[in-house]
Amino acid sequence: MSRLQRSGDKKIVWVTGASSGIGRALVKRLAADGHYVIVSSRNREALLDLQLGHAKLIRVLDCDVGSDTSMVEAQRRLEEITDELDLVIACAGICEYDDNLSLDLTSYRRVFDANFFGVVNTLRVAKPLLANSRQPVFAAVGSLSSVVGFPRAEAYGASKAALEYFIQSVRADTSKVSLRPVLIRPGFIETPLTTQNDFKMPFLMSADAAAERILVGLERKQSVIDFPRRLSWPLRLLNLLSPLWYRLCAPRITRIRKLRKA
Ligand SMILES: NC(=O)c1ccc[n+]([C@@H]2O[C@H](COP(=O)([O-])OP(=O)(O)OC[C@H]3O[C@@H](n4cnc5c(N)ncnc54)[C@H](OP(=O)(O)O)[C@@H]3O)[C@@H](O)[C@H]2O)c1
Repeated sequence: MSRLQRSGDKKIVWVTGASSGIGRALVKRLAADGHYVIVSSRNREALLDLQLGHAKLIRVLDCDVGSDTSMVEAQRRLEEITDELDLVIACAGICEYDDNLSLDLTSYRRVFDANFFGVVNTLRVAKPLLANSRQPVFAAVGSLSSVVGFPRAEAYGASKAALEYFIQSVRADTSKVSLRPVLIRPGFIETPLTTQNDFKMPFLMSADAAAERILVGLERKQSVIDFPRRLSWPLRLLNLLSPLWYRLCAPRITRIRKLRKA
Protein backbone atom coordinates (compact mmCIF):
# COMPACT_ATOMS: atom_id res chain seq x y z
CA MET A 1 0.00 0.00 0.00
CA SER A 2 1.40 3.43 -0.96
CA ARG A 3 2.25 5.90 1.83
CA LEU A 4 0.12 8.97 2.36
CA GLN A 5 1.73 12.10 0.94
CA ARG A 6 0.42 15.22 2.66
CA SER A 7 -0.29 18.24 0.49
CA GLY A 8 -0.97 21.81 1.63
CA ASP A 9 -2.76 22.31 4.94
CA LYS A 10 -4.73 19.05 4.78
CA LYS A 11 -4.75 16.89 7.88
CA ILE A 12 -3.94 13.21 8.29
CA VAL A 13 -6.76 11.71 10.35
CA TRP A 14 -7.45 8.24 11.77
CA VAL A 15 -11.12 7.41 12.44
CA THR A 16 -12.10 4.18 14.21
CA GLY A 17 -15.69 2.93 14.02
CA ALA A 18 -15.69 4.20 10.44
CA SER A 19 -17.85 1.49 8.85
CA SER A 20 -21.20 2.95 9.93
CA GLY A 21 -23.09 5.64 11.79
CA ILE A 22 -21.25 8.65 13.19
CA GLY A 23 -17.77 7.41 12.16
CA ARG A 24 -18.82 6.88 8.56
CA ALA A 25 -20.45 10.33 8.40
CA LEU A 26 -17.26 11.88 9.82
CA VAL A 27 -15.11 10.17 7.18
CA LYS A 28 -17.34 11.36 4.35
CA ARG A 29 -17.13 14.98 5.58
CA LEU A 30 -13.37 14.84 6.16
CA ALA A 31 -12.69 13.34 2.71
CA ALA A 32 -15.05 15.85 1.06
CA ASP A 33 -12.91 18.60 2.65
CA GLY A 34 -9.79 17.01 1.14
CA HIS A 35 -8.28 15.55 4.33
CA TYR A 36 -6.48 12.18 4.34
CA VAL A 37 -8.40 9.62 6.36
CA ILE A 38 -7.33 6.20 7.62
CA VAL A 39 -10.52 4.25 8.32
CA SER A 40 -10.89 1.41 10.82
CA SER A 41 -13.48 -1.09 11.96
CA ARG A 42 -13.69 -4.89 11.91
CA ASN A 43 -15.70 -4.94 8.67
CA ARG A 44 -13.15 -4.64 5.83
CA GLU A 45 -15.85 -4.83 3.11
CA ALA A 46 -17.71 -1.83 4.51
CA LEU A 47 -14.43 0.12 4.71
CA LEU A 48 -13.55 -0.73 1.09
CA ASP A 49 -17.01 0.48 0.12
CA LEU A 50 -16.32 3.78 1.93
CA GLN A 51 -13.02 4.09 0.08
CA LEU A 52 -14.68 3.79 -3.37
CA GLY A 53 -14.05 6.96 -5.36
CA HIS A 54 -11.60 8.33 -2.75
CA ALA A 55 -8.61 6.00 -3.21
CA LYS A 56 -6.14 8.90 -2.92
CA LEU A 57 -7.56 10.22 0.35
CA ILE A 58 -8.89 7.16 2.19
CA ARG A 59 -6.81 4.19 3.42
CA VAL A 60 -8.37 1.06 4.89
CA LEU A 61 -7.03 -0.33 8.17
CA ASP A 62 -9.40 -3.02 9.39
CA CYS A 63 -8.80 -4.01 13.02
CA ASP A 64 -10.54 -4.89 16.27
CA VAL A 65 -9.79 -2.07 18.72
CA GLY A 66 -10.68 -4.31 21.67
CA SER A 67 -8.14 -6.98 20.74
CA ASP A 68 -4.53 -6.36 21.78
CA THR A 69 -3.16 -8.75 19.12
CA SER A 70 -5.20 -7.14 16.34
CA MET A 71 -3.91 -3.71 17.45
CA VAL A 72 -0.26 -4.81 17.37
CA GLU A 73 -0.76 -5.71 13.72
CA ALA A 74 -2.74 -2.48 13.18
CA GLN A 75 0.19 -0.44 14.51
CA ARG A 76 2.56 -2.09 12.02
CA ARG A 77 0.19 -1.42 9.11
CA LEU A 78 -0.56 2.13 10.28
CA GLU A 79 3.16 2.94 10.28
CA GLU A 80 3.33 1.66 6.70
CA ILE A 81 0.60 4.14 5.73
CA THR A 82 1.89 7.27 7.49
CA ASP A 83 4.53 8.53 9.89
CA GLU A 84 2.30 11.19 11.44
CA LEU A 85 -1.26 11.73 12.59
CA ASP A 86 -2.79 15.18 13.15
CA LEU A 87 -6.15 13.99 14.42
CA VAL A 88 -7.47 10.71 15.78
CA ILE A 89 -11.21 10.22 16.37
CA ALA A 90 -11.78 7.08 18.45
CA CYS A 91 -15.40 6.44 17.54
CA ALA A 92 -15.64 2.62 17.65
CA GLY A 93 -18.15 1.43 20.20
CA ILE A 94 -20.99 -0.93 21.01
CA CYS A 95 -24.05 -0.77 23.25
CA GLU A 96 -25.44 -3.74 25.18
CA TYR A 97 -28.19 -3.13 27.71
CA ASP A 98 -28.46 -5.02 30.99
CA ASP A 99 -32.13 -5.97 31.13
CA ASN A 100 -33.26 -7.16 34.57
CA LEU A 101 -29.92 -6.26 36.19
CA SER A 102 -28.55 -9.67 35.19
CA LEU A 103 -24.90 -8.50 35.59
CA ASP A 104 -23.70 -10.79 32.81
CA LEU A 105 -19.92 -10.35 33.00
CA THR A 106 -19.36 -11.56 29.42
CA SER A 107 -21.51 -8.72 28.13
CA TYR A 108 -19.89 -6.15 30.45
CA ARG A 109 -16.39 -7.25 29.30
CA ARG A 110 -17.44 -7.03 25.62
CA VAL A 111 -18.70 -3.49 26.15
CA PHE A 112 -15.61 -2.40 28.08
CA ASP A 113 -13.28 -4.05 25.51
CA ALA A 114 -14.77 -1.99 22.68
CA ASN A 115 -15.68 1.26 24.45
CA PHE A 116 -12.92 1.66 27.03
CA PHE A 117 -9.94 -0.60 26.24
CA GLY A 118 -10.57 0.09 22.55
CA VAL A 119 -9.85 3.77 23.13
CA VAL A 120 -6.80 3.07 25.30
CA ASN A 121 -5.54 0.74 22.55
CA THR A 122 -6.19 3.39 19.89
CA LEU A 123 -4.23 6.04 21.79
CA ARG A 124 -1.41 3.54 22.49
CA VAL A 125 -1.07 2.75 18.78
CA ALA A 126 -1.48 6.38 17.65
CA LYS A 127 0.78 8.08 20.24
CA PRO A 128 4.11 7.76 18.38
CA LEU A 129 2.50 9.14 15.21
CA LEU A 130 0.66 11.94 17.04
CA ALA A 131 4.05 12.92 18.48
CA ASN A 132 5.24 13.71 14.94
CA SER A 133 2.44 16.25 14.34
CA ARG A 134 2.74 19.93 15.33
CA GLN A 135 -0.75 20.24 16.86
CA PRO A 136 -2.01 16.70 17.48
CA VAL A 137 -5.57 16.07 18.65
CA PHE A 138 -6.92 12.84 20.17
CA ALA A 139 -10.73 12.84 20.33
CA ALA A 140 -12.75 10.02 21.89
CA VAL A 141 -16.49 9.49 21.55
CA GLY A 142 -18.12 9.09 24.94
CA SER A 143 -21.83 9.66 25.53
CA LEU A 144 -24.21 11.98 27.37
CA SER A 145 -25.40 8.77 29.06
CA SER A 146 -22.45 9.10 31.44
CA VAL A 147 -23.79 12.37 32.89
CA VAL A 148 -26.46 10.63 35.00
CA GLY A 149 -27.17 6.93 35.66
CA PHE A 150 -29.64 5.55 33.09
CA PRO A 151 -31.62 2.36 33.66
CA ARG A 152 -30.25 -0.70 31.75
CA ALA A 153 -27.08 1.24 30.88
CA GLU A 154 -24.94 -0.16 33.70
CA ALA A 155 -22.29 -1.56 31.30
CA TYR A 156 -22.55 1.00 28.49
CA GLY A 157 -22.75 4.10 30.72
CA ALA A 158 -19.97 2.83 33.00
CA SER A 159 -17.68 2.20 30.01
CA LYS A 160 -18.31 5.77 28.79
CA ALA A 161 -17.81 7.21 32.31
CA ALA A 162 -14.49 5.32 32.54
CA LEU A 163 -13.53 6.71 29.13
CA GLU A 164 -14.42 10.22 30.31
CA TYR A 165 -12.14 9.93 33.34
CA PHE A 166 -9.40 8.47 31.15
CA ILE A 167 -9.51 11.48 28.81
CA GLN A 168 -9.50 13.92 31.76
CA SER A 169 -6.49 12.16 33.22
CA VAL A 170 -4.68 12.19 29.84
CA ARG A 171 -5.49 15.93 29.66
CA ALA A 172 -3.83 16.46 33.04
CA ASP A 173 -0.80 14.42 31.98
CA THR A 174 -0.40 16.24 28.66
CA SER A 175 -1.02 19.74 30.00
CA LYS A 176 2.59 20.73 29.22
CA VAL A 177 2.79 19.09 25.80
CA SER A 178 1.11 19.84 22.49
CA LEU A 179 -1.37 16.90 22.47
CA ARG A 180 -4.99 18.08 22.83
CA PRO A 181 -7.33 15.39 24.22
CA VAL A 182 -11.01 15.96 23.40
CA LEU A 183 -14.12 14.29 24.79
CA ILE A 184 -17.14 14.06 22.48
CA ARG A 185 -20.49 13.32 24.17
CA PRO A 186 -23.38 12.89 21.73
CA GLY A 187 -27.01 12.51 22.73
CA PHE A 188 -29.26 10.18 20.69
CA ILE A 189 -28.07 9.75 17.09
CA GLU A 190 -29.89 7.74 14.41
CA THR A 191 -27.42 4.92 13.60
CA PRO A 192 -27.41 1.09 13.61
CA LEU A 193 -26.44 1.31 17.31
CA THR A 194 -29.74 2.95 18.26
CA THR A 195 -32.01 0.74 16.11
CA GLN A 196 -32.23 -1.59 19.15
CA ASN A 197 -33.78 1.24 21.24
CA ASP A 198 -37.48 0.54 21.70
CA PHE A 199 -38.14 3.79 23.58
CA LYS A 200 -38.66 7.36 22.43
CA MET A 201 -35.27 9.01 21.98
CA PRO A 202 -35.50 12.72 22.76
CA PHE A 203 -33.93 15.15 20.27
CA LEU A 204 -32.76 12.33 17.95
CA MET A 205 -30.23 13.67 15.40
CA SER A 206 -28.94 12.27 12.11
CA ALA A 207 -25.37 10.93 11.85
CA ASP A 208 -24.56 13.70 9.35
CA ALA A 209 -25.73 16.39 11.79
CA ALA A 210 -23.67 14.74 14.55
CA ALA A 211 -20.56 14.70 12.33
CA GLU A 212 -21.08 18.39 11.58
CA ARG A 213 -21.32 19.24 15.32
CA ILE A 214 -18.16 17.24 16.05
CA LEU A 215 -16.10 18.85 13.29
CA VAL A 216 -17.26 22.36 14.26
CA GLY A 217 -16.35 21.64 17.90
CA LEU A 218 -12.90 20.38 16.89
CA GLU A 219 -12.39 23.46 14.70
CA ARG A 220 -13.32 25.69 17.68
CA LYS A 221 -10.80 23.80 19.82
CA GLN A 222 -13.45 22.74 22.38
CA SER A 223 -12.09 20.24 24.89
CA VAL A 224 -15.56 18.77 25.49
CA ILE A 225 -18.06 18.59 22.63
CA ASP A 226 -21.56 17.94 24.02
CA PHE A 227 -24.63 17.93 21.77
CA PRO A 228 -27.46 18.56 21.34
CA ARG A 229 -27.55 21.35 23.94
CA ARG A 230 -31.31 20.77 24.43
CA LEU A 231 -30.35 17.43 26.01
CA SER A 232 -26.94 18.13 27.52
CA TRP A 233 -28.01 21.12 29.64
CA PRO A 234 -31.01 19.43 31.31
CA LEU A 235 -28.87 16.33 31.97
CA ARG A 236 -26.09 18.40 33.52
CA LEU A 237 -28.64 20.17 35.69
CA LEU A 238 -30.12 16.81 36.73
CA ASN A 239 -26.62 15.65 37.62
CA LEU A 240 -26.28 18.65 39.95
CA LEU A 241 -29.70 17.87 41.41
CA SER A 242 -29.21 14.09 41.27
CA PRO A 243 -31.65 13.23 44.11
CA LEU A 244 -34.39 14.62 41.84
CA TRP A 245 -33.26 12.40 38.96
CA TYR A 246 -33.27 9.21 41.06
CA ARG A 247 -36.53 10.03 42.92
CA LEU A 248 -38.63 11.50 40.11
CA CYS A 249 -37.26 10.58 36.65
CA ALA A 250 -35.59 7.15 37.08
CA PRO A 251 -38.70 5.45 38.58
CA ARG A 252 -40.65 6.49 35.46
CA ILE A 253 -38.22 4.82 33.05
CA THR A 254 -36.81 1.79 34.84
CA ARG A 255 -38.40 -1.53 33.81
CA ILE A 256 -37.41 -3.39 36.97
CA ARG A 257 -40.27 -3.95 39.42
CA LYS A 258 -38.78 -6.76 41.52
CA LEU A 259 -35.19 -7.81 42.37
CA ARG A 260 -34.74 -11.26 40.81
CA LYS A 261 -32.42 -13.86 42.33
CA ALA A 262 -30.77 -14.71 38.99
N1 LIG B 1 -25.86 6.54 18.26
C1 LIG B 1 -25.96 7.17 19.42
O1 LIG B 1 -27.06 7.58 19.84
C2 LIG B 1 -24.72 7.42 20.24
C3 LIG B 1 -24.85 8.27 21.35
C4 LIG B 1 -23.74 8.52 22.13
C5 LIG B 1 -22.53 7.95 21.80
N2 LIG B 1 -22.43 7.11 20.73
C6 LIG B 1 -21.14 6.53 20.43
O2 LIG B 1 -20.76 6.86 19.13
C7 LIG B 1 -19.88 5.88 18.64
C8 LIG B 1 -20.32 5.43 17.25
O3 LIG B 1 -21.58 4.81 17.38
P1 LIG B 1 -22.69 4.80 16.24
O4 LIG B 1 -23.93 5.28 16.87
O5 LIG B 1 -22.18 5.45 15.03
O6 LIG B 1 -22.88 3.24 16.08
P2 LIG B 1 -22.62 2.24 14.86
O7 LIG B 1 -23.23 2.75 13.61
O8 LIG B 1 -23.02 0.90 15.37
O9 LIG B 1 -21.04 2.31 14.69
C9 LIG B 1 -20.16 1.68 15.57
C10 LIG B 1 -18.84 1.52 14.85
O10 LIG B 1 -17.88 0.96 15.73
C11 LIG B 1 -17.26 -0.15 15.09
N3 LIG B 1 -16.82 -1.09 16.10
C12 LIG B 1 -17.53 -1.66 17.10
N4 LIG B 1 -16.76 -2.48 17.81
C13 LIG B 1 -15.53 -2.42 17.28
C14 LIG B 1 -14.30 -3.06 17.56
N5 LIG B 1 -14.16 -3.92 18.58
N6 LIG B 1 -13.22 -2.78 16.79
C15 LIG B 1 -13.33 -1.91 15.76
N7 LIG B 1 -14.47 -1.28 15.42
C16 LIG B 1 -15.55 -1.55 16.18
C17 LIG B 1 -18.34 -0.70 14.16
O11 LIG B 1 -17.78 -1.40 13.07
P3 LIG B 1 -17.64 -2.98 12.92
O12 LIG B 1 -18.85 -3.59 13.53
O13 LIG B 1 -17.52 -3.12 11.45
O14 LIG B 1 -16.38 -3.33 13.61
C18 LIG B 1 -18.93 0.60 13.64
O15 LIG B 1 -18.13 1.13 12.61
C19 LIG B 1 -19.88 4.75 19.67
O16 LIG B 1 -18.73 4.88 20.48
C20 LIG B 1 -21.12 5.02 20.47
O17 LIG B 1 -21.03 4.52 21.77
C21 LIG B 1 -23.51 6.84 19.93
